[in-house]
Amino acid sequence: MMIRSFLYYLMVLLGLFLFAFCKNEGRSDLRESSIELGKCVWDKEGVVSCAHPEAARIGAEILQQGGNAFDAAIAMQWALAVCYPEAGNIGGGGFMVARKSDGSYLSLDFRESAPAAAHRAVYLDSDGERIEAKSTDTHYAAGVPGTVRGLYECHRRLSRMDMPSLIDPAIALAREGFPLTARQARYLNEHAETLRERNGAGTAFTRSGEWQVGDSLRQEDLAATLERISQAGEEEFYSGYTAELILAEMRQAEAWFQAEDLANYRAHWREPISCDWRGSKVVGMGPPSSGGIALCQLLAMADLLGLDSLQHNDLNYIHRFVEAQRRVYADRSEHLGDPDFYAVPVEQLLDAGYIAARVLDIDLLQASPSAEVLPGQFAGESMETTHLSLIDAEGNAVAVTTTLNGLYGSKIVVEGAGFFLNNEMDDFSTKAGSPNMFGLIGGEANAVEAGKRMLSSMTPTIVERDGALFMALGSPGGSTIITSVLQTLLNTLHFDMPPDSAIAAAKFHSQWLPDKVFFEEGRFRGGLLDSLAAMGHTPDSLASLGRMDLAVIQPDGTRCACGDLRADNTAAGHRANENP
Ligand code: GLY
Repeated sequence: MMIRSFLYYLMVLLGLFLFAFCKNEGRSDLRESSIELGKCVWDKEGVVSCAHPEAARIGAEILQQGGNAFDAAIAMQWALAVCYPEAGNIGGGGFMVARKSDGSYLSLDFRESAPAAAHRAVYLDSDGERIEAKSTDTHYAAGVPGTVRGLYECHRRLSRMDMPSLIDPAIALAREGFPLTARQARYLNEHAETLRERNGAGTAFTRSGEWQVGDSLRQEDLAATLERISQAGEEEFYSGYTAELILAEMRQAEAWFQAEDLANYRAHWREPISCDWRGSKVVGMGPPSSGGIALCQLLAMADLLGLDSLQHNDLNYIHRFVEAQRRVYADRSEHLGDPDFYAVPVEQLLDAGYIAARVLDIDLLQASPSAEVLPGQFAGESMETTHLSLIDAEGNAVAVTTTLNGLYGSKIVVEGAGFFLNNEMDDFSTKAGSPNMFGLIGGEANAVEAGKRMLSSMTPTIVERDGALFMALGSPGGSTIITSVLQTLLNTLHFDMPPDSAIAAAKFHSQWLPDKVFFEEGRFRGGLLDSLAAMGHTPDSLASLGRMDLAVIQPDGTRCACGDLRADNTAAGHRANENP
């Protein structure tokens, strides 16, 4: 009898155990399945999109854990510094544009700055000629990194979760490794020789054989750096052991950075640039980025040039936008720079009368040679930058674009710290009138000066439609960022394309100088290019333009995010009501 009772109780206990176990298993499945990754994720309550699937997954997990969009953006940026070393960074800088759920806007400038040793002639030889590659391939190419300050500044003001919880996933990614995508393996192989020449054979980024897709990239030095930052905070990077490693690295360049350059670096909250366009409000980054101003100028010009009468990507559409871009990039070259050093005429550049006057000399049938288009008068590779877009369940929207400038920046790894230094100094006008790596020309407004921030083209953008949050978007691509964002925005707002088509649509780019129009290879008819050439344009090709990351709110309130098909960009989302 006792044995039977014992067995009975044992079976009850076993049953309870199995029930609890299955329930937990079920929960864990539910948790897993409530995060979805893909090129586009639809009908989610919190969505993210960025350049790499690991960072997208981490962003969606932070949202699922109850973090807000700012928490997720911070965690994604730390993660991109690990899983996207070609542009994600702690050795570079960037910009954030955000719309809080209460409808207020913020923009944060954590752009790199020139060290105190910088001066106008630093990239010139005794004849006043540019020293080949000094502003792109050497220690002198690096500006003082802003990303770590930027992340902490954002965290202080807007976060809900503690910083170590946001860094931990990146530390795990660096320590345990992550599988390289095919594109990443190819890039590392293509640049292996340069990476070895500049850093020896001891970094995580080179190996004896070729990298293959799926190989695990483990970064012990970077994991240790992130762990130190997580434990001691931002000052560890700017005046602690990591700062010592950066300064030791810089001794190879006659102490290009001094301890004060790092210790004194600050991120700045700036006034965002905004413009109303056909019932939408477009909010972007102001100087030292040219993105917000150029985007607003181009949207205003679109109306003046008869957008409603134009077909997407037809001859007249391309011609008119190329002419508008010619004028906008000419203005950029003359008038835009760091507002703390140069009086950027923001209001004049966005003035409706000024913009109307700028388009007056556009011939609708003939290209105007760039040599004859001067900047208006009044009374910033490879294309490696990276962007992330997020909208959370509460309605906070974040658009962050960060960069090292070139692919892997200067390709110089800070010895012992495991991260690449930017080569952002090339975004300055290192010689007046002489093109930088993006072919951009500049002058006084963007001349090199100690402590100054170099002009950027990064265009993190948030769009409101009929007074409600609609979209967060942005892209890498150096000088082509502005035109990629413009076209994706028009595809969505004007041509009513769904987000995936708006991103996928073929793109073109022009920027005043060089006097060419770049088309995505193989995506425009030869006859169309011939017709443009007959109008006086010089068509050229680029393998691809833009790698957009976009998040939108659908009319029913659900969120969708999409990453560009052109690369590894990945969207991720979660459903808040599936939270365990
Ligand atoms: N480094 C590219 C840009 O900031 O525009």
